[in-house]
Amino acid sequence: MKSTKLKSLIRLLIVGMLAVTILTTRVQSAAYAALHVDNPFVGATAYLNPDYAEKVNQQATQTAGRLGEKMAQVATYPTAVWIDRIGAITGTAADGTKIARSLREHLDAALGQKLSGKPITFLTVFYNLPNRDCHALASNGEISHGGIERYKTQYIDPITEIFSDPKYAPVRIVAVIEPDSLPNLVTNLATPACAQAKSSGEYVEGIQYALDKLHPIPNVYTYVDLGHSGWLGWDSAFGPTVALIAETIKGTQAGMNAVDGFISNTSGSSPTVEPFVKEFTGDQPSQASNFYDWNPHVDEVSYMRAMYDAFVAQGLPKTVGMLVDTSRNGWGGPNRPTAASTSTDVNTFVDESRIDQRPHRGGWCNQIGMGIGERPVPEPYEHFDAFVWVKPPGESDGISEAGIIDPHDPAKGFDGMCDPNGTNRDNSKYSTNAMAGAPHAGWWFAKQFEMLVENAYPPLIKPILP
Ligand code: BGC
Repeated sequence: MKSTKLKSLIRLLIVGMLAVTILTTRVQSAAYAALHVDNPFVGATAYLNPDYAEKVNQQATQTAGRLGEKMAQVATYPTAVWIDRIGAITGTAADGTKIARSLREHLDAALGQKLSGKPITFLTVFYNLPNRDCHALASNGEISHGGIERYKTQYIDPITEIFSDPKYAPVRIVAVIEPDSLPNLVTNLATPACAQAKSSGEYVEGIQYALDKLHPIPNVYTYVDLGHSGWLGWDSAFGPTVALIAETIKGTQAGMNAVDGFISNTSGSSPTVEPFVKEFTGDQPSQASNFYDWNPHVDEVSYMRAMYDAFVAQGLPKTVGMLVDTSRNGWGGPNRPTAASTSTDVNTFVDESRIDQRPHRGGWCNQIGMGIGERPVPEPYEHFDAFVWVKPPGESDGISEAGIIDPHDPAKGFDGMCDPNGTNRDNSKYSTNAMAGAPHAGWWFAKQFEMLVENAYPPLIKPILP
């Protein structure tokens, strides 16, 4: 008798505990859902980085005239804040001198810019994995192979502590996670630093750690980098990219729910839409051209639509949204084709019709001819959360000559792809198409800013009618 009573008491206790757990989880997830919207860009204004605006306005004032006016317009659009060193968290150089706004100062400024009753987005980039930029030298970082603990404790932990401050709850923090990292593990394993990043598991571990820390903060939104159409568009790379990234996400504490979406074209110049190349009427598709080399995706919209379907097929929620960095993929200016070519030769047709003026789609460093692209905008297409400006227009991709040290990031090097006189490392038939006179990655490159403004498409201000 006694033992039956005890048993039912225990049963009651277990049932009660279970109910409490379920209820708390429900309440927690309801509270999370109330704070965490599907698309952070909808209904929100965006943070304008005053440090960036200052650089733009300085050049605009110096330039003056109509061009200066166009330049000044760029300062009115939001750009990302790159957390590209541990020192960027406090805004200090290696020797401790204050050189920029700290992360807290940026977030405080965002609170200051917030309009009452409207949320504000704060676009930021995580970019400091061990062995960073493993396939190139231009953006090698401060943490080398073996430094995963440093990445976690000195980089991710302090950032997430700041993001968790309740004072920043009204800011929708949009985090781009480690550009180029996982894509490099798909196509560049022949490069020793990438092979090392793969075999050590440091890229995957670092990203999973970052997602585990960021996902529980309801006002933080995470977007994982997917390279761009001209890099991973081929079936041979596309499938393995999806597999690796889906597996990485599944391995986090929140599993499939750990991310809000994906981003393509970070710091890239691949067009959002190639308007004419699909019009070829010859017996082959335009993909048969040398330029496309059978890559089925000629632009970011096509690539990201396919990526959306592929990730949903992997089990990710249908609510995931895509972002495209459109800061430098406009390809306007006098060389922009205005109609499809009439040539019946596939190569001539593609070369005369494409807006992407690069000699090769693998060119990434300070590309000659690029222009500012679509302005940041929410929901440009179904399943696209926004067009954003991640790479601040005017900041260099890498230094164009050897032998100069970057005082902020001494690991940054000279990469042959930034050599204006060199050939494309991945395809020596083509030139690098890199501009001369470039400073280290991230530093202001006035000549490039001017070109980007001149070649903006859509143009920055309407042309004066004759
Ligand atoms: C550089 C970063 C910089 C970013 C934005 C990257 O290529 O490595 O240091 O913050 O570009 O300009």
